[in-house]
Amino acid sequence: MATSGDTERYIMEANEGELQRLANQHQVLKSAMGTLTVAPIDFSRPNLRILDSGTADGLWLRDVQATIAQPHAYVGTDIVQAFFPQPAPPGLSFHNQSITQDWPDDWQASFDYVHQRLTLAGAGQHPVKQCVSRLAGLVKPGGWVELVEADFTGDSSNGPAMQQFEAMMRNMLDKVGAGYAYATPLKSYLEDAGLVNVQEKSFDITYGAACPNAHVAKKGSAHLVTAATGLRDFTKSQVGNMDMSDQELESFPDEVRKEVESRGAHFKMLAVWAQKS
Ligand SMILES: C[S@@+](CC[C@H](N)C(=O)[O-])C[C@H]1O[C@@H](n2cnc3c(N)ncnc32)[C@H](O)[C@@H]1O
Repeated sequence: MATSGDTERYIMEANEGELQRLANQHQVLKSAMGTLTVAPIDFSRPNLRILDSGTADGLWLRDVQATIAQPHAYVGTDIVQAFFPQPAPPGLSFHNQSITQDWPDDWQASFDYVHQRLTLAGAGQHPVKQCVSRLAGLVKPGGWVELVEADFTGDSSNGPAMQQFEAMMRNMLDKVGAGYAYATPLKSYLEDAGLVNVQEKSFDITYGAACPNAHVAKKGSAHLVTAATGLRDFTKSQVGNMDMSDQELESFPDEVRKEVESRGAHFKMLAVWAQKS
């Protein structure tokens, strides 16, 4: 009979698997974008307050901290507290906070840099625009907000397995609420929130055989195979299975692995950043 200890172990292993997938993805994004920070932050100024919303285990924060000599206050928030490192590393703090809820009053206009990557799908049925305007409210005058999100609109140069991956991703984003084109209006949301110097850049993210660095290429393949397994399970839970047969669904992660290792894959990542006047 399963005990509560078994359940805790299962949750811990599931979290470790997800954190490994996110760590692989982090290396892929860092390599393809050539930077961790797109907004023009002057990290040499003293005592900056830096927020990473949807931080998971704070890997982005820890990686930024490791490249900067000045001590700053690094704050990570997420709705899955089990992801937070225990104890928090020096200079970092972690807090339970959903992007769909009001942020603490004493955090308003208190950050020099608000960063959020690949978290807006977690808005669910909540308006994405409202989540973005809440983030804008956290930025000090002169400070920056930066959003990095996947863009599944437009034509794809990927092979058949990865085009199927993209179709399943679009379907999932539509079903959970954010909608597959959720990243396209981000620039206008930041403008409507009253921010200035609003900028946008699209990055080509390469995976597997399309990635020039062999070490990062492997991490990209591993990330996509794990993500394909999650997408397969989500699709199975949906009425109609997106017209995929049981056999197609079962073999889908393996088809993704073969195609990414032999041909590679590309995704578009949109970075949007803006300043509080
Ligand atoms: C795809 S992961 C990205 C993690 C990290 N930002 C990165 O780029 O590596 C999405 C993260 O957002 C968190 N998340 C999902 N919905 C959220 C919400 N409503 N509010 C805050 N965080 C959320 C998840 O728990 C997860 O850690």
